Amino acid sequence: MPDPAALLELAIAVASQAAEVIRSASLADPADVSTKSSSTDLVTATDRAVEVLIVERLLSARPDDGIEGEEGASVEGTSGVTWVIDPIDGTTNFAYGYPAFSTSIAAEVDGRPVVGVVHDPVRGQTFSAVRGQGARLDGRPAAIRLAGPPLAHALVGTGFGYDAGRRAAQGAVLAQVVPHVRDIRRAGSAALDLCTVACGRLDAYYERGLQHWDHAAGALIASEAGAWVGTLEGGPLATERTIIAARPDLVEPLLALLRAAGADTMP
Ligand code: IPD
Repeated sequence: MPDPAALLELAIAVASQAAEVIRSASLADPADVSTKSSSTDLVTATDRAVEVLIVERLLSARPDDGIEGEEGASVEGTSGVTWVIDPIDGTTNFAYGYPAFSTSIAAEVDGRPVVGVVHDPVRGQTFSAVRGQGARLDGRPAAIRLAGPPLAHALVGTGFGYDAGRRAAQGAVLAQVVPHVRDIRRAGSAALDLCTVACGRLDAYYERGLQHWDHAAGALIASEAGAWVGTLEGGPLATERTIIAARPDLVEPLLALLRAAGADTMP
């Protein structure tokens, strides 16, 4: 088992180097932006450049590790450690200059995240966790409130995929959820949403269709902060399931509300 403290130190250093590139990137050139899985799914040259930088820095420190990156980086490692990377989670926000995006880096051992780092370059904040050792925000312990307002007074985050059919179904579910909670937030970076639950800025978050790199680091951070992290349908976190992070006392009513709204049968 590699030393988690060393993996954490490396991930924090690389995420902060990525943040410097993101902060200094010019957003003025529309040619910098293109589309991926659908006409609403954006990617910028900065996403690609930051992924290249992260991969170079990780592999120069640990050449035998594997890599799985949102922008296509794929390396089969031999050390047992695989880095799961989203160079810019919240690319749409980044492309518009809307200040909610992050860099997400997780280290997995045997398919299980052991270290997670999510860096918010706008606020200059770093969320991190080592499995079994709690979560931190800028080095200080981060913890959710273990109890708080009931679901009717809970602030709940969510997000939408890029496929028009899935978005329509997600909107229909949301229409049935919003009357039963305090309010909804759609910040546009799933990794940050999960960390937002971790530090009590949201009471709960749910989203169907997240990719591995969207949730690998943030889900570990939320769970190490004391949140319940799981899926509406049961089973491990996966793209075809609705991933939930919530204050433990909200889980039962939130799952019931989402089921009643048909979230478990969404495409
Ligand atoms: C997206 C963001 C967004 C979420 C989408 C993700 P990307 O990631 O995390 O908040 O709602 O499901 O795909 O494309 O900006 O890396």
